[in-house]
Amino acid sequence: MHFLAIETSCDETAVAIFDDQLRVLANVIASQVDLHRRFGGVVPEVAARAHLQRLLPTMDEALKVAGLTLLDIGCVAVMNSPGLVGALLVGVSAAKMLALSLEIPLVSANHIEAHIYAARMAAGRDIFPCVGLVVSGGHTSLFHCHTALRFELLGATIDDAAGEAFDKVASLLGLGFPGGPAVEREAKNGNPKAHSFPRSFLKENRLDFSFSGLKTAVMYALYGPGISQGPPPDAGPQRADLAASFQKAVIDVLAGKASQALRKTGLKRLAVGGGVAANRALREALEVMVIAEVAELFVPPPDLATDNAAMAALAVEKWRAGDLASFDLDARPNYA
Ligand code: KG4
Ligand code: ZN
Repeated sequence: MHFLAIETSCDETAVAIFDDQLRVLANVIASQVDLHRRFGGVVPEVAARAHLQRLLPTMDEALKVAGLTLLDIGCVAVMNSPGLVGALLVGVSAAKMLALSLEIPLVSANHIEAHIYAARMAAGRDIFPCVGLVVSGGHTSLFHCHTALRFELLGATIDDAAGEAFDKVASLLGLGFPGGPAVEREAKNGNPKAHSFPRSFLKENRLDFSFSGLKTAVMYALYGPGISQGPPPDAGPQRADLAASFQKAVIDVLAGKASQALRKTGLKRLAVGGGVAANRALREALEVMVIAEVAELFVPPPDLATDNAAMAALAVEKWRAGDLASFDLDARPNYA
């Protein structure tokens, strides 16, 4: 049984083909990074139009890579929430059209839950129940994942997402877009102890996050105390220390809150997903943390951690459970 999965929630047009044994036959991503770079961030209308142009060629490419035709597909999966609603609508409409014309079932997948499921895919074995940490451009959330299909939200960011903070700090430091990989590269040459940036909620007994104060602290360190007007000054030789100190503050909070979540739930497995999970320094910090917690860590490789359609293989679990989508399936911008 072959599934064709579509992901258009943000700025990657992605199509994957996998089977009911979770074998990935194709995982094709048409990135829009070059389109959005000059705006310094993703422009929703530009993203939606680009999905329209790229979706069918991306689908053709995925079928070619898998060595299949549409007639070999037995089920269509689509990420319908959360994300940019205009962008999501392109994928949802295409998925409905495919399912209707091929007379095959349609299954929806939640983008955030799929990010966690990517860790299950990479593990090659069941990892549930586990604590799930999603660290992406739009979300920073902790879940008690009872099964692949039952996620209980434990806490989330009250302002910026971790990836968003990376992108904003990259822009302040003149490192360009997308910010995460650029900050990580710059941080390699810096001293993480050069600046003592805030670690919001770290010592508090709650599983929420806040990164906007950290971003402001980096801004004041760059502009000078209390100044936030005008274009960012050139960070010059300070750039690497600012990047390293910022990155360390984010990582301390993510590892600290993940360890609190393991203790609170009594679970011994941590699955991490989302673009920020591609950060090597974060992975290393989490590896050290799980040893202290006598727990296991599951992090997908970078191509499965950042946005892709193979993680929609969560749909295989839904299909097995008989949880199919109807043709009034809607695109929803928020998680809940
Ligand atoms: O999951 P994702 O690909 O898309 C969303 O669902 O948002 O995550 C994108 C986010 C961006 O904010 C990007 O800067 C960040 O992930 N990111 C990273 C790294 N690679 C991507 N952040 C830190 N270090 C990285 N190596
Ligand atoms: Zn994502």
